[in-house]
Amino acid sequence: MLLLRHVSKVYGETGHEVPALRHVDLQVEPGDFIAITGPSGCGKSTLLHLACGLDLPTDGEVFINGRSTTALTDDQLTTMRRHEIGLVFQSFNLIPTLTALENIVLPATLGGRSFASQIDQGRKLLGCVGLENREAHYPDQLSGGEAQRVAIARSLIMNPLILLADEPTGNLDSESGMAIMDLLLEFGNVEADSPRGKVKRSTLIVTHDEGIANRARRRVRLKDGIVV
Ligand SMILES: Nc1ncnc2c1ncn2[C@@H]1O[C@H](COP(=O)(O)OP(=O)(O)OP(=O)(O)O)[C@@H](O)[C@H]1O
Ligand SMILES: [Mg+2]
Repeated sequence: MLLLRHVSKVYGETGHEVPALRHVDLQVEPGDFIAITGPSGCGKSTLLHLACGLDLPTDGEVFINGRSTTALTDDQLTTMRRHEIGLVFQSFNLIPTLTALENIVLPATLGGRSFASQIDQGRKLLGCVGLENREAHYPDQLSGGEAQRVAIARSLIMNPLILLADEPTGNLDSESGMAIMDLLLEFGNVEADSPRGKVKRSTLIVTHDEGIANRARRRVRLKDGIVV
């Protein structure tokens, strides 16, 4: 599903290089649920950015569903991200001028589908995250845990094969964080369409919370850009 082969990432110009990842190998199978942990600055976010083609490796290759991100154009990467990958961030990144339902449906409408055609699916996802009665709320009318549940519902509107979440519980109290983890584990068991037919979704989450990480099926620990 996702393969990082000998991936290194160096930021900055010659003379001011910051090595962020060094020779990372990681194979993610359908149905995997992986927690990525490690100290601040060890390269966790960098790894997620490479895993969705938001950034490209300096060395090595990242394959998403068999295609190397370095071989694709920006447009192809954008299309692939939109259809195959769901992203969740620590800061939720909801659009403040859109309601909960409109935020959830947004990736589908950006992909060219009509709002009307996506309302049912959007409402279904609102129900899945327990927010059926918050449909018309704006982000500033939601609690942190609710906002993150909307962000998770949004990440799933395209039924992605791969779900990447960067500190999805980082801004939440531990109870809300555990509830978000329940949802991610539940949605990690869902099947999505792939070129090879239906396969189980793969989930990668970055967390510094041991309680959250312990609930993942696999753990990857990074230190100074190296898998340890
Ligand atoms: N755009 C950038 N330009 C230059 N250096 C960067 C850039 N992004 C990240 N870095 C550096 O790369 C290293 C890894 O950063 P990264 O954001 O992946 O860490 P992280 O493990 O996600 O940390 P945190 O837990 O604090 O979020 C850090 O030393 C950081 O300063
Ligand atoms: Mg980070």
